[in-house]
Amino acid sequence: MRSIYRSSPFMGSGRPQVDPCHTLRRIVRMSEKRVIIAIDGPAGAGKSTLAKRVAEKLGFLYINTGAIYRAVALWALRLGVQLSDMHRLEQLAKESKIELRPDGRVFLNGEDVTEAIRELRVSEAASKVSAVPGVRRALLALQRGMAEKNNVVMEGRDIGTVVFPEAQLKIFLDADPAERARRRALELLEDGRHSDEQTIASDLSRRDERDRRRKEAPLVQAPDAELVDTTGRSLEEVEEIVLGLVRARTSNGKAAAY
Ligand code: DC
Repeated sequence: MRSIYRSSPFMGSGRPQVDPCHTLRRIVRMSEKRVIIAIDGPAGAGKSTLAKRVAEKLGFLYINTGAIYRAVALWALRLGVQLSDMHRLEQLAKESKIELRPDGRVFLNGEDVTEAIRELRVSEAASKVSAVPGVRRALLALQRGMAEKNNVVMEGRDIGTVVFPEAQLKIFLDADPAERARRRALELLEDGRHSDEQTIASDLSRRDERDRRRKEAPLVQAPDAELVDTTGRSLEEVEEIVLGLVRARTSNGKAAAY
């Protein structure tokens, strides 16, 4: 899996090859309640890479809720629906059949749209579509249902505040804007798409502003969420912090602040 974090100078440094998550997975399996880990934060903070890795290590289901809003936005764009038409957008959200498969593929009304929803025009449209209260309401039950029978790592903007306010662990992942833009530029470059950092920085900041200022379920850190700043940290470091928090929570310990 590609990493958008700084590469760690300590990787492959001859540590013993043990699985440090073995005990953690056992503790989690013994837990009687379904475990929900909510990861929220702005675009480019590194949520997806981290959430996927943590889910894999713990044997949890990974759910990227941004993909759900993106799928509705893609459908609206294809149908030529005005992004200001709140009623029609709500209708689309209600009628859409969105499936997030365990292998990460995203299906909209039976069609694989995994790549299509990553286009820049869809990012921008998803940010607008997700500000519509009726759209959010329509997609809430879908998101809750996805976690019904599974332990999950769910990432988005309002998971810890609205979707699962009872989540056992809430992480608010952040990084400074310049670093977020740099990471996004690298990601795009790896996908063969060149875009200058200035343009990306202004795209990210416009989307963030919209996500933070909207009335319904704005992007905000839940009062009981742990703030983890990924600026200058490697993926391994951040993952260690988050697994440490999971360990502390699932064994009833007290979580430290980062
Ligand atoms: O995480 P992402 O960039 O793929 O999300 C796309 C848009 O969807 C983003 O601008 C905000 C919105 N979103 C949201 O409002 N609530 C969520 N839980 C997830 C994403």
